[in-house]
Amino acid sequence: MRTYTLIAPAKINLYLEIIGDRPDGYHELVMILQTIELADRLEIRCNGIQGIQLHCNHPLVPLDQTNLAYRAAQLMSQEFPEAFGNYGGVDITIDKQIPVAAGLAGGSTDGAAVLVGLDLLWELGLTLPQLQRLGEKLGSDVPFCVAGGTAIATGRGEKLDPIPDLDSLWVVLAKYQNLSVSTPWAYQTYKKQFGETYLKDLKNIESRTSQINSGPLVKAISQKDRKKIGKLLHNDLENVVLPEYSQVAQLRNILQQAGGLGTMMSGSGPTVFTLCNSQAEAETIQQKARQEIKDPDLEFWVTKLSSTGIQVASV
Ligand code: C5P
Repeated sequence: MRTYTLIAPAKINLYLEIIGDRPDGYHELVMILQTIELADRLEIRCNGIQGIQLHCNHPLVPLDQTNLAYRAAQLMSQEFPEAFGNYGGVDITIDKQIPVAAGLAGGSTDGAAVLVGLDLLWELGLTLPQLQRLGEKLGSDVPFCVAGGTAIATGRGEKLDPIPDLDSLWVVLAKYQNLSVSTPWAYQTYKKQFGETYLKDLKNIESRTSQINSGPLVKAISQKDRKKIGKLLHNDLENVVLPEYSQVAQLRNILQQAGGLGTMMSGSGPTVFTLCNSQAEAETIQQKARQEIKDPDLEFWVTKLSSTGIQVASV
């Protein structure tokens, strides 16, 4: 029986603006999302026992329904019961390289990889939009993770509009290994503090959402104006995460002072990143920051922006 090996890349947020509430309890967002080469590797194979089994090399990754990879397999088995019955159960092995609970969509990209992997394993022939619609049921970032590249994401984050790729830039990422931020906490706290500024009227929300297309960051990305891109990075969630987590605020300052095009927190954090012109620049920034903060708990990654989502590495 075949085994598929899939590459599941992480994402960073070049832009995250919270514009309102949604009736489903989520927030209306305007984001610019970007995949990076830092990636998990997943192996998916039939196990012949009708169940779903998850294995992972990382001790903090749950192996049950709380894992999006598991939920993706469950969803596929419910949507395609005949295929699930014909092929038997599925074994999923995750080689975790993306830091956990870091604001890098590590869980979402594993879920996206399982959708793509089972589509191939079960020979379903699903289209990209069909896979993305399934992804919406799992989480707001999953549809983006399926396709990857550079995209404007609106609504809950599931409505995607691809824009020109930025794959020639490099990035240095930094995260305290033992620090994680709860995404629901970050959004709820933001709502408590800034809820009064939310747009209420659907027309205003639609108009704000559409402004991003002609906004300065999208223009800078289309023109590949690296300096402007770095200056225009933005994340509303910094307003609640940085005051609460002083270590993250300090890390952000040190990375910013170390150079590069621009520094920002990704998603709900606590990962902070600096966009760079080259690998050499990213490595120099990493060394400078390491010298400033001598904490063995602080981890760094130097990687490139990427134009791809889930990729099949081998069959
Ligand atoms: O969709 P996902 O499960 O990744 O979202 C995680 C949490 O982030 C949600 O439970 C919600 O608290 C918050 N969120 C939100 N609005 C969004 C996306 C996420 O409030 N558009």
